[in-house]
Amino acid sequence: MKTARISTTDVAYVEKGSGVPVLLLHGFPLDHSMWSSQIDALADRYRVIAPDVRGFGQSPLGIVDEVAGILMVQYADELAEFVDAVAVKEPFVLAGFSMGGYIAWQFVRKHDQRLRALIQCDTRAAADTEEARAGRIKMAENVAEWGSGRVAEMMGPKLFAPSTFEKKPDLIAAVRQVVERTPPAAIAAAQRGMAARPDVTTLLSTITMPTLILVGEHDAISTPAEMRSIAEAIPKAQFVEIASAGHMTTMENPTAVNDELLRFLGRV
Ligand code: MLT
Repeated sequence: MKTARISTTDVAYVEKGSGVPVLLLHGFPLDHSMWSSQIDALADRYRVIAPDVRGFGQSPLGIVDEVAGILMVQYADELAEFVDAVAVKEPFVLAGFSMGGYIAWQFVRKHDQRLRALIQCDTRAAADTEEARAGRIKMAENVAEWGSGRVAEMMGPKLFAPSTFEKKPDLIAAVRQVVERTPPAAIAAAQRGMAARPDVTTLLSTITMPTLILVGEHDAISTPAEMRSIAEAIPKAQFVEIASAGHMTTMENPTAVNDELLRFLGRV
């Protein structure tokens, strides 16, 4: 992987191909590898850039306010620094997955002049319920003692469609390994930031760029119904449901996701 220096850390990233830049932002508590299939599929025609968000994968966490964690808007501002650092000069396509999507909303809010188009996969526009927020804070407070392996156990069943569990044990193991390797401090910082994230529903009607909203048909975290309503609120959004996939669409049904991404990118 390459690295780029920003004010808070060194960002590790994969870069492949040339053309219009397409930036892929991973979810929690994962890394760029969840986009492996898309990186290969898009690189024939696009400059694909997939960073590890601060603290995840091979990007060091840097200094963090332990009480506040890292807000989604901070990650978004750091993404703006990162695209400058890797010399993305023209408007680019931003694809966010789940937590990457929460960051992408904030990027749209503050830096939309940098974007050509938006792809939001398996993410939400609503803030957390009180119960969900409490769960995140509990994890943030205890993950150092629990270890990241327990987080992998807690999250695993929610991430995949039942058929993936039955038929793709290697995929489940690969995701588990990524979660287990994530430092507890990065998990805590992101959980605190996600707990504090604002509801962005009112942002949706102001998004005028071409937008693709993509979700797995069995996604239990960001449901198809919720994502359809996000698409309906964005003027130029297209909604796509991916068959045979839960939350981890990019890994559970990469062929369908790649086809949809290439179709959308071909139009923008
Ligand atoms: C993710 O995949 O990034 C997480 O499920 C997001 C979340 O915890 O809300």
